[in-house]
Amino acid sequence: MTDTVNAPTNRSLSDMALEREGASIGKVMKIRIYPFVPVSAEGTRLTDIDGKEYLDFIAAAAVVQTGYRHPAVQQAIHQALDGVWTAMHCCHPHTHAIDLAERLMALVPGDFEKRVWFGTTGSDANDCLSRLLPKATGRRRLISFIGAYHGQTTGSAILSGHQTQADVIGLGNVTKLPYPDPYRCAFGPCSRDGCSLKCLDHIKYALQTTSPASDTAAIVLEAMQSDAGDIVPPANFLPALRQVCDDHGIWLVFDEVKTGLGRTGKWFAFQHAGIIPDAISLGKPLGGGLPLSAVVGRAELLDVSTYNLFTLGGSPAPCAAGLAVIKVVEEQKLRENAVAMGKLLLDGLQNLAKAHPLIGDVRGLGLIIGIELVRDRETREPAAHEAARLAYRCFELGLIVIYCGLHGNVIELTPPLTISEADVDEALSVLDQALSDIEAGRFDDKKLAPYSGW
Ligand SMILES: Cc1ncc(COP(=O)(O)O)c(C=O)c1O
Repeated sequence: MTDTVNAPTNRSLSDMALEREGASIGKVMKIRIYPFVPVSAEGTRLTDIDGKEYLDFIAAAAVVQTGYRHPAVQQAIHQALDGVWTAMHCCHPHTHAIDLAERLMALVPGDFEKRVWFGTTGSDANDCLSRLLPKATGRRRLISFIGAYHGQTTGSAILSGHQTQADVIGLGNVTKLPYPDPYRCAFGPCSRDGCSLKCLDHIKYALQTTSPASDTAAIVLEAMQSDAGDIVPPANFLPALRQVCDDHGIWLVFDEVKTGLGRTGKWFAFQHAGIIPDAISLGKPLGGGLPLSAVVGRAELLDVSTYNLFTLGGSPAPCAAGLAVIKVVEEQKLRENAVAMGKLLLDGLQNLAKAHPLIGDVRGLGLIIGIELVRDRETREPAAHEAARLAYRCFELGLIVIYCGLHGNVIELTPPLTISEADVDEALSVLDQALSDIEAGRFDDKKLAPYSGW
């Protein structure tokens, strides 16, 4: 029995749980934004330890595609646990992994021989890429992008260009270049409908100088940068990048850990650009909430050697859950719902922007949407404190959101793909109220003191 059961009446169960957690779990694994201790969930709703219900617009960081406790996903997990329960796939393969691998190979476009690798979390999938891409191509170098978040293991962290990874010293084989950000372009006028692609000139320049094309194995990126602030690149960028890669025999690799499996309205975000990658990484929703990641790519990459593995990579229950998630996304038309609800949400946010000067920009694909907050629409000065206040205020009003971005000033919305029009209306109304409160100074910053965010 835990001490929370005997809570004195003047302290909430959340406060008590957080106090125990503070004394037991290391800060290094925390991003804290508000005092929230969920204990149960259903569909798009979470309930905290004190019994308060919330509308969830982050889906456990874009993991819960099908809504919480989807019966088909639960059933698949239970059935798998009735089987072998756990298996060391490296020596003793099981059919749950084979079934999922075959399904993923069919989903990922590309008229070439493919293979699948399974790990446990998005970071290890990107780590696998950073190790195998040089090995498979015989070229030592990689290009990635400033702002990218690819994970926490050494191999994935050196590919990342996110400010939270700035203390990780890379191996020197990764060149990081500016990602095209239509709202904050470093090079000149840029718009989502198309741009002059000056950033592409930098990539070409790098391929002539610091990362010679003949020694560059791959360009690794997100088709839409998420943790950098939900940045959607101009429409002509990715096709032009594919062309540069083709010109030099360089592989193009997408991190689809957050954007994959229907979140953007297509199975994968790169499909919005109509191009074919050589490999992709997957994670987050792939295991339906259980630890699972994957790389799907050319056979030359994933057959390059043996022994690049994790004992629990591709375990039976997560693989069974993954197959069920894909089936639910397909059968419940959740990609279609992501498009429809994403449009409703974006339109609603554009409307809110008319009334709230704090909103500098809103953008997204399907149900991954960023609201960029600024102190001044002319200078676009990032409003990071305001983002922290806004996320906290939404929490108080019953809506779970998070903030991200290179400047920490972007409210990110990644709800379950099952959200309804009523959920969208509710979220917009809370955001409207919370924005009014923050703009009018109706927020006590003392509440934020223990919550330093990223
Ligand atoms: C695009 C992207 N890649 C990789 C990762 C790392 O995944 P994980 O935290 O599951 O290791 C994340 C996590 O946020 C991510 O957003």
